[in-house]
Amino acid sequence: MRPFLKWAGGKSQLLEHFAARLPEPIKQSKSIPRYLEPFVGGGAMFFYLKTNFQIGQAYLFDINPDLIICYQVIQKNPHALLKILDHLIFAYEAKSKEERKAFYYQIRDLFNRQAKSMDRQVYSKEWVERAAWLIFLNKTCYNGLFRLNQKGEFNVPYGQYKKPKFYDHDNITQIYQALQNTEIIWGDFTAADYYVTKDSFIYLDPPYRPLNQTSNFTSYSKGGFSDLDQQRLATHFQKWDQKGAYLMLSNSDPKNEDLNDHFFDNLYKGYKIERVPAKRYINCNAQKRGAINELIIRNY
Ligand SMILES: C[S@@+](CC[C@H](N)C(=O)[O-])C[C@H]1O[C@@H](n2cnc3c(N)ncnc32)[C@H](O)[C@@H]1O
Repeated sequence: MRPFLKWAGGKSQLLEHFAARLPEPIKQSKSIPRYLEPFVGGGAMFFYLKTNFQIGQAYLFDINPDLIICYQVIQKNPHALLKILDHLIFAYEAKSKEERKAFYYQIRDLFNRQAKSMDRQVYSKEWVERAAWLIFLNKTCYNGLFRLNQKGEFNVPYGQYKKPKFYDHDNITQIYQALQNTEIIWGDFTAADYYVTKDSFIYLDPPYRPLNQTSNFTSYSKGGFSDLDQQRLATHFQKWDQKGAYLMLSNSDPKNEDLNDHFFDNLYKGYKIERVPAKRYINCNAQKRGAINELIIRNY
């Protein structure tokens, strides 16, 4: 199983580092009785774990309502979703280069207009349409970004891909099955509070603390994630630690830019902090590019 969306901060490339650092009882038993992921995004870690371990009950959270709609639609109505998506793909692929671009902006408009009227609390047919539009936009927009403007409108430009790969049928089928004993919850990460128990395994992948001003181009939702939010998260990390959960958190390492930036070292003092090489780059300017580290913080 692989993520069905491209998602900024996707963790596929770091999975080997996470896998080597799973709690010992999980490695030995190959099972995770209770799994929580409060910042699920594209879900690379969840899909990896679900493929390789027996997961009892899983709880996935994200503050992005459209992302949560997608997960819920795959959980409940994958066939209806793929039917709409297939129509979109068929219409798109039959068009010329210029027409494809216009089609992208048409769907983007529909997506934004629907946002103003739809009920995001109660599951409906509109959700299925919205999920199909989001997957379509995600695969045809620039870099698979999800960015909203001040008015809350999705404003990512067209991506000019020659042949976007929209979805893989078997992958969606497997994801559908994987989501059957999974709760998918729209909310701030603190919503996880209620579900944390002793021995839960929690993987936390909050939005990166920007390495520098220019790298802060991703906004997953209105509001962003400030240093205060990082502090709020550290408080919950402690609280969940005291409840007896196993916690693993990843983030970009501010020391990539400034060796004197001890932000996370101070915030997670007393926990196990490691730095592993990430295949991301620090600068959009190719000449200034260099490999950088990712932080992995654990309470075990
Ligand atoms: C770095 S991404 C996670 C990427 C994910 N691990 C993957 O492999 O795709 C961070 C996610 O946190 C979500 N997010 C931002 N602020 C949040 C908050 N306060 N509570 C919960 N989720 C939040 C964003 O919508 C985004 O999907």
